[in-house]
Amino acid sequence: MKLLFLNGPNLNMLGIREPDIYGKQTYASLEKYIREFCKELGVECEIFQSNHEGALVDAIQGAYQKFDGIVINPAAYTHTSVALLDAVKAVGIPTVEVHISDVSKREDFRQVSYIRLACCKTVAGHGFEGYRLAAEHLISIL
Ligand code: DQA
Repeated sequence: MKLLFLNGPNLNMLGIREPDIYGKQTYASLEKYIREFCKELGVECEIFQSNHEGALVDAIQGAYQKFDGIVINPAAYTHTSVALLDAVKAVGIPTVEVHISDVSKREDFRQVSYIRLACCKTVAGHGFEGYRLAAEHLISIL
């Protein structure tokens, strides 16, 4: 089984950006955490981060017939991007939406998620562990 982990804008700034909300661990440590739990769970993984919406659309399209599941934290594009929603719908790959913070307890504009409409699950507010919970969900349904 092959899972694709996608991270959107500003997640490369983890550890620096708003540590009270996103924690003090860096993006490199998130990548390490993902690689370690994927090994434990016996799944292959690829991890990609971009600050650019089109690059994320390209990555989702590129997953077609190559990956069994997608774990995506679209970051700010969660709340704005019909293009990412359409890309997930286009490829038809089971996808879980992840947020490090609990977006349900934050600003009104964060209550909207376009991509959620194409996702089989949303995990929010569990920090880095949310990525593992998302992967475990995909493994359980695939
Ligand atoms: C986020 C929540 C988004 O609202 C925000 O724009 C992010 C990160 C999270 O992981 O909690 O950049 O997706």
